[in-house]
Amino acid sequence: MSAPPADFLPLTRPTLDAATIEGVAEVLRSGWITSGPQVKAFEAALSEYFGGRPVRAFNSGTGTMEVALRLAGVGPGHEVITTPLSWVATSNVILSVGAMPRFVDIDPLTRNIDLKRIEAAITPATRALLPVDLAGLPVDRDALYALAQRHTLRVIEDAAQSMGSRWQGKPIGSLGDLVSFSFHPNKNITTIEGGCLVLNDEREAHLAEQYRLQGVVRSGFDGMEVEVVGGKFNLTDVAARVGLGQLPHLAQFNARRQQLARLYFTELRARGAAGIGLGLPPEDFANGNWHMFQVVLPEERLTLSRAQVMERLMAVGIGTGVHYPAIHLFALYRRLGFKPGDFPIAEYTGRNILTLPLFPAMQDGDVTRVAEALMRVLTAAARN
Ligand SMILES: Cc1ncc(COP(=O)(O)O)c(C=O)c1O
Repeated sequence: MSAPPADFLPLTRPTLDAATIEGVAEVLRSGWITSGPQVKAFEAALSEYFGGRPVRAFNSGTGTMEVALRLAGVGPGHEVITTPLSWVATSNVILSVGAMPRFVDIDPLTRNIDLKRIEAAITPATRALLPVDLAGLPVDRDALYALAQRHTLRVIEDAAQSMGSRWQGKPIGSLGDLVSFSFHPNKNITTIEGGCLVLNDEREAHLAEQYRLQGVVRSGFDGMEVEVVGGKFNLTDVAARVGLGQLPHLAQFNARRQQLARLYFTELRARGAAGIGLGLPPEDFANGNWHMFQVVLPEERLTLSRAQVMERLMAVGIGTGVHYPAIHLFALYRRLGFKPGDFPIAEYTGRNILTLPLFPAMQDGDVTRVAEALMRVLTAAARN
């Protein structure tokens, strides 16, 4: 593969302002760089955003989910229902706590877990539901919680991608059971690496703090107790300062993402997306945060593989990504007994989904350039 051209358009890029960069320098100069006052301030700002619910910051959106599963009492002998179309962290954390993922196929339109199929997957071992809002498009929270209530199940929302998404007008995270977010650099706001967990009450938040850092509870000047096996999931103050600089821009970032997404629909349709059978995302401008703009290639109508399409786009300076291959087909999961054909919609989508560049600093002309290049490649590769 040759080096990308100078006008390379990446799949995504964070927007960090000068005040944030200066703020990080101040933290670095302050003498306190790991978890401290910046983390506390970030948690307070997040809590305010989530309608006053308790929030704890973590060093990843994977650690948040592992701790959430422990808080929900999930462990060996238990099953957790989740989607096969997600970042593999979603189901790896289920294995990490000693439980088994129970996958349910996706809805081909939303690309999220098909809520109508969940009931059939519930067994006496089921303890929790772990849905994902792929690309920030929220799973129907009303239907989800009605289901959880009917079967007395905990819910861990993998809202890694849903910062700023809404349900019934309220931010995701301000409602529901345990809600987990990621602040990885490709997310709508970032702490470089990091995440946060929205909790139900202070007792749960206190326990989350223990699971976050070696189970330690301190008291007085020298008191220390340990009652649970905790991990090492604390966020640094440097990272929290990045988050504090990002959060005030969330609404503006997401508004720009929404404009760019609207433009993608217009530009792709104008160039014959429907005629070639290109799968577009649901046109949801009320709930989703447009974390990603993902198309599904019509494999049966193309003479090129997805990798070849990606290579041709890379050759004209356009980065694309795959989010995600179906989890149950990874070797680790096949060894657990999952096999091709188990979840055909997730498998088809996982083989053909393609993420196009989308980030707030993109120009309108960048969208046109991507749409033009993609449709040119696909049209040339169309089977007669
Ligand atoms: C759907 C989903 N779940 C979980 C994660 C894990 O988050 P992190 O990378 O912060 O551990 C991510 C982010 O990469 C994600 O996109």
